[in-house]
Amino acid sequence: EWTPGNVIAEQVEAIRAAVGGDRVICGLSGGVDSSVAAALVHKAVGDQLTCVFVDHGLLRAGEAEQVEQDFVAATGVNLKVVDASETFLAALAGVTDPEAKRKIIGREFIRTFEKAAREVVAQADAEGTTTGEVKYLVQGTLYPDVVESGGGEGAANIKSHHNVGGLPDDLQFDLIEPLRTLFKDEVRAVGLELGVPEGIVWRQPFPGPGLGIRIIGEVTHERLEILRAADAIAREELTRAGLDRDIWQCPVVLLADVHSVGVQGDGRTYGHPIVLRPVSSEDAMTADWSRVPYEVLATISNRITNTVPEVNRVVLDVTSKPPGTIEWE
Ligand code: XMP
Repeated sequence: EWTPGNVIAEQVEAIRAAVGGDRVICGLSGGVDSSVAAALVHKAVGDQLTCVFVDHGLLRAGEAEQVEQDFVAATGVNLKVVDASETFLAALAGVTDPEAKRKIIGREFIRTFEKAAREVVAQADAEGTTTGEVKYLVQGTLYPDVVESGGGEGAANIKSHHNVGGLPDDLQFDLIEPLRTLFKDEVRAVGLELGVPEGIVWRQPFPGPGLGIRIIGEVTHERLEILRAADAIAREELTRAGLDRDIWQCPVVLLADVHSVGVQGDGRTYGHPIVLRPVSSEDAMTADWSRVPYEVLATISNRITNTVPEVNRVVLDVTSKPPGTIEWE
């Protein structure tokens, strides 16, 4: 029988058997999947686990703070925060192809984890606490990720999700993916059972490659600032309107390589469009565009074009999935 309790019991036993006395690290993003995976592994092996939060410079406003405050406070896991934003942005310089971006981001994640793992070992040695190398990397891969990356039976490779495809061949860790057979609603049930805070359990999905795949064109500091500002406004207004649970997620996309003409302030501008992509979904494998009330859309549009000078147009994506994927890249 499928119950969250049974899933937890089974996974805890399997993780303990696999890990033994070895050290484990987990990439924590603050999202539901990695948080629940981390809580599960923490329940299984306690302080043998160190969570690593990578700030890749592609985060939304306020995300790093949320992980440090909410998740660590609730679970007591060991957390290491790594600021790798300059490394990621340097690796992404000049890159516009979506698949290339994903592969680069996936590779840099792994390189960052490898470096963090060495530091975790060095610190433990210095403190004379636990011993041994880090052998395992925990990832919050879900069943739909597996299917969409071609890991499921007969499935085509649609996009290479950074946490499934695109891992380097010389990966020095074995992967632990305790959520690999679960759908999002099941992961949420498991998370609640494990005592993960509701604010994290109900958080809307956000892709690992972050804002890097929401800038159509090259990813730069300046473009990230523009998108971050627009995204913060959209999220704030959707939350204010009480739509967080109705909407599965709302990617905000900067068409950085497209220009549009506007009249703003003193005169003519030649800026960029921002796309709002609110969708409703059960499991992200299919989705419909959300019928967000016009007044809410109007407020978002006005606020963005009034406060983000580089944006002179806000457009709404009214495509279901299929044919359009949820993300634009
Ligand atoms: P698509 O765009 O394929 O997205 O319809 C389906 C769901 O997956 C999320 N997504 C990702 N999540 N790494 C992730 O962790 C990725 O590379 C990635 N790409 C898409 C997307 O936000 C949506 O919830």
